[in-house]
Amino acid sequence: MSLASTLVGEYSSRTRRSRELAEEALASFPGGIVHDARFFRPHPIYVERAAGSRKWDVDGNEYVDYVGGHGAMLLGHAHPQVTAGVQRQLEYGTHYGACGELELRWAQLVQRLMPAAELVRFTSSGTEATLLAIRLARAFTGKAKILRFNTHFHGWHDHAAFGISSHHDGTPTPGVLTALSEQVLLCDPGDMVEVERLLAEGDVAAVILEPTGATWGQVPFAASDLHKLRAITRKLDTLLIFDEVVTGFRCSPGGAQTLYDVAPDLTTLAKVLAGGMPGGAVTGRRDILKLLDAEACRREGLEKVPHHGTYNANPASAAAGIAALTIIGSTDACERASNFAARLRNELNVLFEQIGFTWRAYGAFSAFHIYASGHDERVEVAELDSGRFDYRKIKAAAQHPLIPELCLALRIHGVDIFGWPGGTVSSVHTDEDLEQTVDAFRKALQAIK
Ligand SMILES: Cc1ncc(COP(=O)(O)O)c(C=O)c1O
Repeated sequence: MSLASTLVGEYSSRTRRSRELAEEALASFPGGIVHDARFFRPHPIYVERAAGSRKWDVDGNEYVDYVGGHGAMLLGHAHPQVTAGVQRQLEYGTHYGACGELELRWAQLVQRLMPAAELVRFTSSGTEATLLAIRLARAFTGKAKILRFNTHFHGWHDHAAFGISSHHDGTPTPGVLTALSEQVLLCDPGDMVEVERLLAEGDVAAVILEPTGATWGQVPFAASDLHKLRAITRKLDTLLIFDEVVTGFRCSPGGAQTLYDVAPDLTTLAKVLAGGMPGGAVTGRRDILKLLDAEACRREGLEKVPHHGTYNANPASAAAGIAALTIIGSTDACERASNFAARLRNELNVLFEQIGFTWRAYGAFSAFHIYASGHDERVEVAELDSGRFDYRKIKAAAQHPLIPELCLALRIHGVDIFGWPGGTVSSVHTDEDLEQTVDAFRKALQAIK
């Protein structure tokens, strides 16, 4: 019997109830899932509850969790203060169709932690935040084009749907208009010469990027390039948008912009912002966000940028966000998560050497990524982390045929990671989690070997 079928057999016998639910779900959802990233062969797990760094599936299996609510759970699952804040709010109602004090306190926390957040507009998700930021940039500059970096993810709307895992030539993915994709320029990460050339051609409203690189830094972006980008965009009269949906309140309480001391014109936020509840925001320069202010626009003879959203700053999300940002702003939560991830990356690299794999664990802050190098390829961690390593090679390594088996074997040994492959760490992962994770990797890799 092949390794794959042995693993599938073992996984399936441990996750019988998940399998039943997955089969039932095929009648309700395309492919049985509600988010593209949840695709998993032979079937996904169905999770019943989560607490701290762990989660439990409907068959009672326990996992050390590195999916972390797609990065939202920096403080771990069901953090007592966040849960108490939401529970209190539920008793007071979840939607007033009116202003509420919580939205103000939430925004003030954002402003305190991120000095470039002169004003804040809440949205319901990160996708909505980047969509609004792009609209504001176009309205403010009167220019049409947006420059993005290949592989950088900004949500699923039409301006951001292509050039992530495919269509790096800028052609649209199905359902996106060519006319729209023509207004979005794609550039390879790290190619500052090309960025400058494209901006110099004119008509570029904004450059948008993930400041630590695509997918939690799987394709790292050099900090020195952030400074270059700031200088180039200023010189060529283009706005700079940091998409800090992942990095905001994670790589430091003030996000990547505070850590690297680069002030973008606009910032998009979500995930940690709302403490595990739905929520996003656009923040940034007063003179740009002013375009959402009807009175200011009337006074200045400008046409307002429209923006609605039934669940913007809904009270339950605001309560979770206030609790989360209060903790993040007053404790070493970000640092603890980053330290754990650094230890994990180191221990995985020691393990890879020990068992004769040329693979590498790399990354920054509270993330880890695995570069599944080919047999003869020896890559240094520093090369991967440099922001100069070819993104095509990183993406090709992610397609290594053993990765699905690795993820499957890790689940069998009680560890859940993203299939990119890598994961995100919380501030409450423990020494025991570290030990169990390395042990699970050892068993999985030995089986694969
Ligand atoms: C960097 C980045 N921007 C935007 C988004 C979209 O956020 P949401 O899933 O809340 O729409 C994501 C989601 O993973 C993200 O990672």
